[in-house]
Amino acid sequence: MTNDCLPYDNLQIILSTIEELNAYKDIDAILDKLLFEVRKSTHADAGSIFLLDRNRLKFCHIQNDTLFDGIRGQAELYADFTIPLDGTSIVGYAAMTGETISIDNAYEISRDLPYAFNPSFDEKYGYKTISILAIPLKAIQSKMMGVMQLINAKDENGNVVPFDAFSHISVPLFANNASLAIEKGVMNRELILRMMRMAELRDPTETGAHVQRVGAYSSQIYQQLAIKRKTPAHEIKQTKDLIRLASMLHDIGKIGIQDSILNKPAKLTPEEFDTMKWHPVHGARLFENTTSQLDLMSREISLFHHEKWDGSGYPGKVKDLNTSAPKMGRPWKGKQIPLAARITALADVYDALASKRSYKEAWTEDRILTTIEKESGHHFDPEVVAAFLDIQDVIKAIRNLYEEKP
Ligand code: C2E
Ligand code: SIN
Ligand code: SIN
Ligand code: FE
Ligand code: FE
Repeated sequence: MTNDCLPYDNLQIILSTIEELNAYKDIDAILDKLLFEVRKSTHADAGSIFLLDRNRLKFCHIQNDTLFDGIRGQAELYADFTIPLDGTSIVGYAAMTGETISIDNAYEISRDLPYAFNPSFDEKYGYKTISILAIPLKAIQSKMMGVMQLINAKDENGNVVPFDAFSHISVPLFANNASLAIEKGVMNRELILRMMRMAELRDPTETGAHVQRVGAYSSQIYQQLAIKRKTPAHEIKQTKDLIRLASMLHDIGKIGIQDSILNKPAKLTPEEFDTMKWHPVHGARLFENTTSQLDLMSREISLFHHEKWDGSGYPGKVKDLNTSAPKMGRPWKGKQIPLAARITALADVYDALASKRSYKEAWTEDRILTTIEKESGHHFDPEVVAAFLDIQDVIKAIRNLYEEKP
């Protein structure tokens, strides 16, 4: 590579990456793509992203080529920790000052500097952090979103070297432009949480966390299943992005169910349950006459998430929908039920069983897993159950991250 073509090539990469970032809807997909492309262009072995959450920096994303390949490391994505917004840590200092910080050797930071390196990740994983580049995620005249931290730049021979002058110029450019995409991704998540809070008028402590968990479980089950099917990586990323948000909306149709049924602190009568069974149809109606991929998937998940693999679910093919007496028809079964809905069905039931509801206690993990395995091929698609059982470490990490906070 000659010096002359460097800036131009890099500009092209930045522009096309920003364009692609804007195509993603969910914050996880946006952070994943951003970190991947920036690491590629700077030859960084690892990296992480922290987003500002009130007055702390919340750990949100990690990639590490040495420790985690594409499949391993998924549980680490859901690690639950924050660092204070102050100048004592590298990430905190970058966020406070808005400055890019470059460190050639993490273990030889001068004691005169206000910030220090925290070796706890290295100690936990047996990793050796050497060079660091910490970049604030902030667009001009826009609010600070967080900090991206790149670790261990490598030369052609795989030796760790300091981040070069070129990275110091190009990475802040990436970061500036990406912050707008990040802001949009965060807003999309929050918008959906707000919609669900309005829809599920009952027990407000339940909603946010349940919806986040079902979204995260569904996207991870999908990814595992798709990897096993050898689905192309770009298709996995696109679908994972959509299912993350669309499955959060699975119960949006409960907005059409009267409060006395929705919030009943006891078992429903058969008549009440018959009313409740319309919630998939109410939900699907919200996404009628739309063409965006996200709306199409939201419609499928809403309408089909209570169908069962063996054909014993509801609502089935609804008859006379536009009359005063619509009827539920023959249920859908097997692969007639869209994949995203088969996945959400399992994620939803797993979470419902694991949680306390107004009408039931939380079940033990043993009882839940036994039930799910027993229902494989009956309530649930066996392929979906297998993928779910493969990733129990990830499922546990998600459960821990989005636990009910009193
Ligand atoms: P949900 O609470 O989100 O539950 C989702 C699904 O998880 C249920 O779909 C069911 O398949 C499974 N599930 C939840 N709890 C249990 C349980 O204790 N045992 C078993 N075997 N499965 C369970 P389902 O049954 O179609 O219910 C749909 C929705 O209807 C529920 O969503 C909930 O909002 C409501 N609902 C169902 N039964 C009752 C009830 O007895 N009382 C009240 N207040 N609501 C109920
Ligand atoms: C709907 O309003 O979503 C149709 C089902 C019903 O009439 O309850
Ligand atoms: C799909 O992958 O979406 C179609 C095949 C299936 O439903 O399993
Ligand atoms: Fe439902
Ligand atoms: Fe649900």
